[in-house]
Amino acid sequence: MQHVEHIGIAVKNLALSNDLFTKLLGVAPYKQEEVESEGVMTSFFQTGQTKIELLEATKPDSPIAKFLEKKGEGIHHIAFEVADILAEMERLKTEGFTLLNETPKQGADNKLVCFLHPKGTNSVLIELCQSVKL
Ligand code: CO
Repeated sequence: MQHVEHIGIAVKNLALSNDLFTKLLGVAPYKQEEVESEGVMTSFFQTGQTKIELLEATKPDSPIAKFLEKKGEGIHHIAFEVADILAEMERLKTEGFTLLNETPKQGADNKLVCFLHPKGTNSVLIELCQSVKL
């Protein structure tokens, strides 16, 4: 795995949190993007090499809605950049980690992504992401 590509933060109101994080980081979000399959609207801030991804639920049954219900707002996942997501998924499976998706999914911000089950990672949801060349 490479650097922390982004940290995902679950928020109740993306517009309010965009304002808050713009003040906090001193930079406006560079993109807002819906991932319909995940029932989520995202917004991204560039802070050096690592990004902040804010996540707002767009459907009551989306994973983010469930997370907010159970835990409230806060850090939702940590994403690591990987050079070869298939190889990394294979390696982690061999190490005994549980993948939440068996094939890479199209994520926000031109990434192929895979999540690891937090039960096997000290309750931290881990995302692998590989940049897709456009
Ligand atoms: Co993410």
